Amino acid sequence: MGDPVGQLEQGLAQVAQTYEAAFASAGDEHALREENAKIVGPQGTLTALMKLMRDVPAERRREFGKRANRLKHDVTQRFEQALKQLFAAARQAELSGPALDVTLPGRGARAGRLHAISRVRYELLDVFRALGFDVADGPEIDLHENCFDKLGFPPDHPATDMQDTFYVHTDQPIERQAQRPLLRTHTSTIQVRTMEQTQPPLAIVAPGAVYRRDDDATHSPMFFQIEGLLVDEGVSFADLKGVLTLFIQRTFGEDVPVRFRPSYFPFVEPGGEVDMGCTFCRPWAGGERSGCSPCKSSGWIEILGCGMVHPVVFEHVGYDPERYTGFAFGLGIDRIAMIKYGVPNIKLLYENDIRFLSSF
Ligand code: PHE
Repeated sequence: MGDPVGQLEQGLAQVAQTYEAAFASAGDEHALREENAKIVGPQGTLTALMKLMRDVPAERRREFGKRANRLKHDVTQRFEQALKQLFAAARQAELSGPALDVTLPGRGARAGRLHAISRVRYELLDVFRALGFDVADGPEIDLHENCFDKLGFPPDHPATDMQDTFYVHTDQPIERQAQRPLLRTHTSTIQVRTMEQTQPPLAIVAPGAVYRRDDDATHSPMFFQIEGLLVDEGVSFADLKGVLTLFIQRTFGEDVPVRFRPSYFPFVEPGGEVDMGCTFCRPWAGGERSGCSPCKSSGWIEILGCGMVHPVVFEHVGYDPERYTGFAFGLGIDRIAMIKYGVPNIKLLYENDIRFLSSF
């Protein structure tokens, strides 16, 4: 390997002469670090020179070792100084450059919104409040008697059995079926509770979650209802028709036709179901109902159940059925949301896909 002493002499002199200029010419941090690595990095010139040290005759090794180490120290110090100068220059440029551009559009906070079901619930409650109804509340877990017995369901009525109803397990033995806790299947429980605590006249609407073993495109095991109850002296079926017609037309449009059909619910007599003209094909306004899937080409959509409160219900809650009459109704908030927004499957309302929920 030739002459290590000569090589070292030459190499050290060359590094010493060139490093300052190399650092000075580096325009940014990256270039500066590269120049530094060319000298003291693992493949650097000074690093290579250090490796020659073992071939230097022993009596001169100490001297060269000292010189090489001092040079390395000088290079490192100069590098750090140059780095600081670069940072200072960059900061200076930033400070003396153009100020913050306040005309750039800001990043706005994304506004939240109510879920479609909540929105429809508030809208519907507003319509009933404007008609003079109060809003009443009650528990989602209630007793069998509040959900069924006091409403006049016969004990063996199929709607009370395990097919439709979620019973709640308790550790205490339950002596009477009437005392069994369950997830309410309708908010009629609130009507029972309200009547037990208040004397007529009263007009309430009772919103809330209800639970049934129903599960298909238009039914969910949990859904939301609003039930209504009005009791006073001299309340007639004409009052029922007036209130419910107003409600439907204020919700879906003044021109929407409404029809009443007889139907059966244990707690009303007479009982009925209410249909409104299909708001998808609008046959009353000249639309073509054949081929319309929401109304199955009938031109009508079923919207709620209703009736005059059965005297037996008044007896159960301690009202005099000779003196008082009243009407009751029940509707599904989910169902109305589906009709209003044209939602084909109730499950879409519960999947909480933001893209879907923010589309209306
Ligand atoms: N409670 C009934 C149901 O859940 C609805 C209803 C209420 C029907 C009042 C008639 C009168 O389906």
